[in-house]
Amino acid sequence: MAFPQHRYRRLRRNEQIRNLVRETVLTKNDLVMPLFVRYGKGVRKPVESMPGNYQLSVDELVKECEMLYGKGVQSVLLFGIPDEKDEHGYVACRENGIVQQAIRAIKQVVPQLYIIADVCNCEYTTHGHCGTIVDGDVDNDLTLETLASQAVSMAEAGVDMIAPSDMMDGRVAALRNALDENDFSNIPIMSYSAKYASAFYGPFRDAAESAPQFGDRKTYQMDCANSREAIREIEADIEEGADIVMVKPALSYLDIICKAKAKYNVPVAAYNVSGEFSMVKAAAEKGWIDEKRMVMEILTSIKRAGADIIISYHTQDIIDEL
Ligand code: PBG
Repeated sequence: MAFPQHRYRRLRRNEQIRNLVRETVLTKNDLVMPLFVRYGKGVRKPVESMPGNYQLSVDELVKECEMLYGKGVQSVLLFGIPDEKDEHGYVACRENGIVQQAIRAIKQVVPQLYIIADVCNCEYTTHGHCGTIVDGDVDNDLTLETLASQAVSMAEAGVDMIAPSDMMDGRVAALRNALDENDFSNIPIMSYSAKYASAFYGPFRDAAESAPQFGDRKTYQMDCANSREAIREIEADIEEGADIVMVKPALSYLDIICKAKAKYNVPVAAYNVSGEFSMVKAAAEKGWIDEKRMVMEILTSIKRAGADIIISYHTQDIIDEL
C-alpha cells in the first residue's frame, strides 16, 4: 500500500520528529585524528595541500594531543617523517625512531589518549615504496620482516594499537606472531585490509614525504575496479588475526564498507583519506560549499555505510560540533 495511506513527509515535518527517527548519529567516539610527527623542536610545518594539518615535532605534537584530547578526541593515528631514510626502512624499527619518541612523549602527558601507529615502510625508504625492492618490485616476504620489527618496536614504545598499511600478503599473521612472541598479545591489529591504489592519497604523500620515486603502488595496493577481491583480502586478514579491518579510501568505496559490515562480525574502520579531505577544503576556500554541513554529511554517510571507526583529518574541525 502506498500513497495516500503513506505519506513519508509526516516524519520529516519538523526538527523534533526528524531527531526521533534519525538512524545514524555521528559521535566523538567514532573518530580518529591522523597526525604527522617529524624531527626537530618547536616545528609546526604546514602541509600545503592539507589546510590545517602540520608536520609537528614531538614537543608540538604533545601540545596538539593535549588540545585534541581536551576537546574529546580519544584516539590519534601517528605517521612519522624520519630525519634519514634507508633502502629497507630500518630507521622505522629503531628504539629512538621518530614515532617511538612521539609515543613515549604523548603517553607521559596524555596517557589516556589511545595511540594507533601506522606500520609501513614508505615514509622510511629512500625509494618511497612500502617495502624492500628486489628486481624493481617490492619483495613481499622480506618486507614482512621489517614490518614485524617495526610493529614490535612501536609496542615497546607503548603504542595501544598497530595498523599495518603496506598491503603485503601475510602481514597480519607476521605481525600477530611477532607481537605475541614479544609478550604483546594484548595489542590489537587494525589492518588496512582493502586498501586501493588510489589517486586520493596525493596530498598525504606531500605530508608524509612518502611518494614512490619510481613506478606506482599497483603491484601491492588494490585495483579500484574490484570488490570481490576486497572480500578475499578482508577474509584473509580476519583469519590471520586482524581485530579490526579497514577500507580505504572511504567515499568512493562505501559499497565495500557496506559489504564488509554485512558479511563479517569484526569492527570495520574506514579511512576518509587526504584527497577526500583536501577537495572539501579547496571548495570551501573558494566559498563554493558549506564546509561544516558537508563534513557532517560525509562522515555520517561513512558511518551509515557501516563504519564503526572513521579516521578523518576533519576530526579536529568537527569535534566541537558533536
Ligand atoms: C602508507 C599510507 C598511505 C596512506 C596511509 N598510509 C599512503 C600510500 O599508500 O601511499 C594514505 C592516507 C591518506 O591519503 O590520507 N602506506
